[in-house]
Amino acid sequence: MSSNMFDQDLIRKIRENVDIVDVIGKYIPLEKKGKGYFGLCPFHNDNNPSLSVSREKQIYKCFVCEEKGNVFTFLMKKENISFPEAVRVLAQEIGIDLGDSFKAKPDKNKAYYDIYDITNKFFQNNLLSVEGAKAREYLLNRQLTMETIKEFQIGLALNSRDSLTKLLTKKGYDIKTLNDLGLVTNDYDTYIKRIIFPLSNSKGEVNGFSGRIYNGENINKYLNTKETPIFKKGENIYNYSRALEEVRKSRYVILMEGFMAVIRAYTIGVKNCIATMGTSLTNEQINLIKKMTNTIYLCLDGDAAGVHATINNGKILENMNFEVKVIPLNDGLDPDDYILKYGKERFLSLIDGAISYNDFKIRNYKKGIDLNNVTDKTNYINLVLKEISEVKDEIKREIMLKNLAKETDMWYNTLEKKLKELLANQENTKIDTKNIAVKPKKRLDKYEKAMQIIIYYMLINKDVITLVQNSGVYFPIDSYRILAREIAYFYEQYGYINIADFNTYIEDNKEIDKVFKDIMVLDLADRVPDKVILEYLDVIKKYNLELEIKRLNKLIVDAVSIDEQIELSNQIRKLKMGSEKNDK
Ligand code: CTP
Ligand code: MN
Repeated sequence: MSSNMFDQDLIRKIRENVDIVDVIGKYIPLEKKGKGYFGLCPFHNDNNPSLSVSREKQIYKCFVCEEKGNVFTFLMKKENISFPEAVRVLAQEIGIDLGDSFKAKPDKNKAYYDIYDITNKFFQNNLLSVEGAKAREYLLNRQLTMETIKEFQIGLALNSRDSLTKLLTKKGYDIKTLNDLGLVTNDYDTYIKRIIFPLSNSKGEVNGFSGRIYNGENINKYLNTKETPIFKKGENIYNYSRALEEVRKSRYVILMEGFMAVIRAYTIGVKNCIATMGTSLTNEQINLIKKMTNTIYLCLDGDAAGVHATINNGKILENMNFEVKVIPLNDGLDPDDYILKYGKERFLSLIDGAISYNDFKIRNYKKGIDLNNVTDKTNYINLVLKEISEVKDEIKREIMLKNLAKETDMWYNTLEKKLKELLANQENTKIDTKNIAVKPKKRLDKYEKAMQIIIYYMLINKDVITLVQNSGVYFPIDSYRILAREIAYFYEQYGYINIADFNTYIEDNKEIDKVFKDIMVLDLADRVPDKVILEYLDVIKKYNLELEIKRLNKLIVDAVSIDEQIELSNQIRKLKMGSEKNDK
């Protein structure tokens, strides 16, 4: 937990001088409605303002994606920074100089990134040197301008076995580290005579390289960094950080196969493209993309492998609730080839005309099918009907069905009947899976609710903390009990309490963070009389009592002697009497 590194005075000062409405208002326009402020949620693809910001509580909450927190968590999430960094940003904003403190935690991988940074600069310089002439010629031949080369930090590994190894060991880095980082292999440079494309993590820090041959040598076209502590092929996405802002603006991302495609698209102003490195999407990559947008256009290579990858990836993405569209390229072209061959305007109109994933699959079924062959035709019709049945929009379904009827020279009514059967079947399986897979959303029982309400008021009124402590009540659910204890501890330690600061204080405490977040967004009156709190405390006490009586009753059943049974019954009676006395 962060309590030891937590400078409460500083946090308090920031909180007194910073208003969450102003801070969030700098990122998204907020409109006042009733007690709160509303705006488009920046954490999901929002069309209706669903982010609510409360000046009173200094917290925010999205009703759709359920993202919630205080001013620090907002900055951490939005800027992808750590808690100390968020503190630093806000302190600066109100003119507090923190000197060297509250810098980001020293990253244990920092030295590795430094090495990659030096190497990246070295490669870039090589490309501009005399020895880089051939490589420059190759790139210019591929119609990449010096400007593009600079933007993507394209570089060159020289035709030398050890120029990089020498440079880095001279700087004091040991050969073992360089080996671990994939820059050195068996004491010599890993990358020799290759054009270098730097790869970077989601923050834009260079963490790997892909080196391409350029002189017609008959070896592996691309040589990629091996898995290292800072580079995992399945977690990297090419151009992620550079595309992020553009994707947030355009609200969709274009996924391509290779980085030449991404770079080419960039040169014609299409800057919201990313690429995997020729592999199919991993969960880690999908989660990263989710942070950008929920809408993805697949623009993979126009060959058989690309079609196959489109179908596979589309399915995975739809299952992860993405809206999937496809930009189909034909004749085996990749986006790079396509743009070079047909030009900017045609590629742009291809994007505009992107088709749905369903339509893409239908198109694909038709390939190589002979509609004069009865088996082919029947198969085709069934496959297409299945796709149509998965379309949600009724009008679109009808249009698709009409097209199918025309295309296959079938009666519309026959097809419609089949479609209805399919839809009915789907309904049934849907209900089935609902019963099995989806747990009904847990309704809070009144005891849990009582605990939440009590904790809520402990957070906004210190007197309630005392009230709860004096009552000696025991919260029967661990997370609530720990939370109440932490609140009391915070108050003892710092002499005050409020929701936003306490939120910061327990940030890393996974055990209670979830219940806390549910509680802090409760919409309750600012103040209630002590009597109300006491009533809620009673609700919990009664609940504990019932639990205890249940436990004793069980013991009676198992008791071996009559004496024991009598003793237990007496205990139960006493408990019951005690509670009745309290009632009066
Ligand atoms: N790839 C790889 N190793 C290879 C071939 C491909 O890692 N031997 C990855 C690269 O990330 C590449 C992507 O798969 O960007 C797509 O491969 P390909 O279409 O062959 O490369 P292009 O991007 O088209 O590159 P170029 O036009 O320079 O051939
Ligand atoms: Mn290519």
